[in-house]
Amino acid sequence: MKGDLVIFSQNCNAENVPTPEDSFEIASATCDTLGIDYKYWYQRHRLFKKWDLGITLDTEAWFSVTPEVIAEHHAVRCSEIAASLRSSQHCPVTLDAFCGAGGNSIQFALKNMNVVAVDNRPETIRIASHNSKVYGIRHNIDFICGDTARLLQYVNADIIFLSPPWGGPHYGDKTFSLDQIQVSGLNGIELLKCALQVTRNVIYYLPRNVCLHSLRNIGVPLEVERNFLGGKLKAVTLYFGDLVGQTSSS
Ligand SMILES: C[S@@+](CC[C@H](N)C(=O)[O-])C[C@H]1O[C@@H](n2cnc3c(N)ncnc32)[C@H](O)[C@@H]1O
Repeated sequence: MKGDLVIFSQNCNAENVPTPEDSFEIASATCDTLGIDYKYWYQRHRLFKKWDLGITLDTEAWFSVTPEVIAEHHAVRCSEIAASLRSSQHCPVTLDAFCGAGGNSIQFALKNMNVVAVDNRPETIRIASHNSKVYGIRHNIDFICGDTARLLQYVNADIIFLSPPWGGPHYGDKTFSLDQIQVSGLNGIELLKCALQVTRNVIYYLPRNVCLHSLRNIGVPLEVERNFLGGKLKAVTLYFGDLVGQTSSS
């Protein structure tokens, strides 16, 4: 990748020009230090285009962050609804209910949305806050460290973005059931119903292999969007409420 080549072009002469093997060895060493699979490191600029400006990830975030181009697309769709709800009396709130390292919160904030970002791990909140500073939009995000399942019982929000844990890097091994999502005693369907009680405008980010049969009786219209990255199906996004059927240029 371009970033690697820049590093290796330093201090080179005719004898020590790096080979692809050297490149792989150094990348492997980096991955060993970080405790991650090489395939995640290789994709770091897909996760955050501003990676080289000091983005930080912990082990869980490496495999759970939404790639930037998909997060940006989510934000484009939400921002149109947020703009339509804005008035002199009301500043719409977008709740990123599982903010992780901030992949989605940052994109919402870059679209001038007023974001409340929640995660139940203090270290993850610290990382997301740091990453939002790298993108220069920390001022548009309020971070809360807490349990989203509890928060949904009393929070007010105009748009809710759900990106709960998918159960680790092996979620893609076989068909993914919404029951596999477990958030403080709520499965994936129960979580969605809780969010829909707060607002009709919900986005749900799910694995590419998700089985949607259990949504047949959900009782509200929804749009199913398949998200491709590099020609491969990466994820499925569900849209509810006013977010259904919007066209987007991204
Ligand atoms: C898939 S990651 C979110 C990734 C995020 N969309 C991004 O792009 O960076 C899910 C996050 O949910 C958090 N989480 C798990 N259970 C939670 C709970 N009960 N309440 C709040 N956050 C929770 C995890 O700590 C993890 O950071």
